[in-house]
Amino acid sequence: TTHHDFIRGLPKAELHLHIEGSLEPELMFALAQKNGVQLPYATVDEVRAAYDFEDLQSFLNLYYAGAAVLQTEQDFFDLTHAYIQRALADNVRHVELFFDPQTHTARGIPIATVFAGIARALREARTSHGFSGGMILCFLRHLSEEDAITTLEAALPLRDQYADLWTGIGLDSAEVGNPPEKFAHVFAIAQAMGFRLVAHAGEEGPPAYIHSALDVLQVERIDHGVRAEEDPALMAKLQQSRMPLTVCPLSNLKLCVVKDMRDHNLARMLRAGLCVTINSDDPAYFGGYMNANYIATADALQLGKEELLQLARNAFEASFVTPEQKQVWL
Ligand code: ADE
Ligand code: ZN
Repeated sequence: TTHHDFIRGLPKAELHLHIEGSLEPELMFALAQKNGVQLPYATVDEVRAAYDFEDLQSFLNLYYAGAAVLQTEQDFFDLTHAYIQRALADNVRHVELFFDPQTHTARGIPIATVFAGIARALREARTSHGFSGGMILCFLRHLSEEDAITTLEAALPLRDQYADLWTGIGLDSAEVGNPPEKFAHVFAIAQAMGFRLVAHAGEEGPPAYIHSALDVLQVERIDHGVRAEEDPALMAKLQQSRMPLTVCPLSNLKLCVVKDMRDHNLARMLRAGLCVTINSDDPAYFGGYMNANYIATADALQLGKEELLQLARNAFEASFVTPEQKQVWL
């Protein structure tokens, strides 16, 4: 339909994409074979059949197991290159991708290998396609704050080399029981060093976690944030500050945050004046990249063209690029 064509033609920015979550089963198999990694599945179809999640943790178990096939700089390049091809096909012009170095350093992969592969793909795409990219290093919240500090210290010698890409620090993995304030010190350090800050909050966790991400960690965007709706005072604060929410509709559906896309609160939050954006989260696991997320949301919630345009504009507005670059886009 024309609505779907409108979505496909819309220039988009993606602000919530875990690069490890863009690992398609075909590449997972190829890398497993190349690197001699044993996977608990015999075929690509068996992997896909396993993508039937009941909550965040049931997904994270597979996501971390899958990431074990990533070993060399070329592997991280291939992963990122494959994501960028999908993004270009969806008319995504800018991505600020998340990566989880602890998932890799825990297996003995040097953090420099992770940076190098991802950055080479982003830089190549900038040169060849004018594709704009950023990197947000995420701490795994199920691990300790001490581990996060060690990770930041290990990455800091790379900062100058990747100054064109590495702009931010984020917080992901198992939310409930791991509140933002667990990472207060390391976020304060990162803030003092001039990093832009984001955190997953209010995906499965309560509105109180959104409050502490804002007030304690002082983040500039909330990743997910859909449970904000349970707290009217928080909704008012998000609306007044135009605090961006990076919402991931197909993820929410696959992880049973919502039962049916028609129940999703994205349209209500958008219509309440919040700075809502649409993103794909872990597209290889959740059944769709950016256009699929836009289309599923637009169809279920009857979004109009003005609303779709607003969602796309919100993402450019909420991005961590220079004011000059924003002017070019907006
Ligand atoms: N890591 C990858 N995807 C995630 C999500 N949706 N929530 C928390 N941690 C994640
Ligand atoms: Zn996420």
